[in-house]
Amino acid sequence: MLGAQGQAAAQPTQQILPLHSDEDVVRLRKQVRDSMVAMGFGLIEQTKIITAASELARNTLRYGGGGEAHIARVSDGARLGLELRFVDAGPGIEDITLALTDGYTSGGGLGLGLGGAKRLADAFHIDTAPGAGTTVTIAKWKLF
Ligand SMILES: Nc1ncnc2c1ncn2[C@@H]1O[C@H](COP(=O)(O)OP(=O)(O)OP(=O)(O)O)[C@@H](O)[C@H]1O
Ligand SMILES: [Mg+2]
Repeated sequence: MLGAQGQAAAQPTQQILPLHSDEDVVRLRKQVRDSMVAMGFGLIEQTKIITAASELARNTLRYGGGGEAHIARVSDGARLGLELRFVDAGPGIEDITLALTDGYTSGGGLGLGLGGAKRLADAFHIDTAPGAGTTVTIAKWKLF
């Protein structure tokens, strides 16, 4: 595809995928993999971030009542990275420290998803409040 000036059009820097079903999680995993391959991440990094993305997407479905995943290429000048954002308008998380504690679950899970995702990513942030939904953001940086 060519842009107005005749150069190859840049890839879109952000993609938004719906998260309402298990099939959406499968599509997300594929998109995250494709983005990471395109950015030159290796297999171990791909596997870590796909695993983290799956856990966060499943939380969006199970606890958030569904939502969206935002996939973005980001740069801070020195580094290029992949940022993944999981957004829902569910009940929110009352106690983030408790939710991040390995083994804590309110839904009969293993209670390892959030803490696992935090350990697998280079950056991790939760923005949530009771009744105001939850956004979890992770990033993986690539050194050039
Ligand atoms: N998007 C969300 N909205 C509301 N609560 C959430 C959300 N994500 C996580 N939580 C809360 O944090 C807890 C811990 O999440 P975590 O993913 O670590 O474990 P889990 O989903 O219960 O089990 P699993 O190990 O199967 O992922 C959940 O049980 C839930 O109470
Ligand atoms: Mg979970």
